[in-house]
Amino acid sequence: MDKTQALDALFADVTLLPVISIEREADVLPLADALAAGGITTLEITLRTSLGLPAIELLRRERPQLRIGAGTVTNAAQFQAVEQAGAHFVVTPGITEELLQLGLRSRIPLLPGIATASEILAGYRLGYRRFKVFPAEVLGGAALLRSFAGPFKDVRFCPTGGIGQQNIDQYLALDNLLAVGGSWVTPKAAVAAADWAEITRLSRAATALAAAR
Ligand code: 3PG
Repeated sequence: MDKTQALDALFADVTLLPVISIEREADVLPLADALAAGGITTLEITLRTSLGLPAIELLRRERPQLRIGAGTVTNAAQFQAVEQAGAHFVVTPGITEELLQLGLRSRIPLLPGIATASEILAGYRLGYRRFKVFPAEVLGGAALLRSFAGPFKDVRFCPTGGIGQQNIDQYLALDNLLAVGGSWVTPKAAVAAADWAEITRLSRAATALAAAR
């Protein structure tokens, strides 16, 4: 399986990618379980907090059935650390030549973040066909992704940034969608209150919409 196929396989069943920043170690397993109860199979743990890396290790050890991505990876040291921690894939908010090269050599696939056609080309020439689009809503939302379908016919995208229940349907309607990403199924207040039922409810609502696409 090549890396494009590996990325597609992550989202073959559920076209959703919850983006999670861990604030308390004790939240990791119940939060993942709440998402899984709502039908989520693949999730992204960001390195925006210092608990990100240990959370990836913990989830890989304790919840081997989940597919775990490492997000907000911005340099080579982080890339190598998350690969070592057992992440199934790496997500970056943008691209550098260093990150793109690492993604070619690594065992696990990279989903590089882009915002422009020029950045797609920078990855495309190296073989990348799947990209995160960030911050999607600010950049033009679903209309931007539809525009990218013209010149980039074999490329699919994971938009994140500003997506929620209010606009997810616009993204789910796209032909060049890999998955819809974001934090709306794990609201900060619900996580802080350990309201796992609410997270399962939001996940279920999102997976039902995604399944109907
Ligand atoms: C990301 O890194 O993908 C975004 O921060 C998620 O954006 P959101 O919080 O607006 O969903």
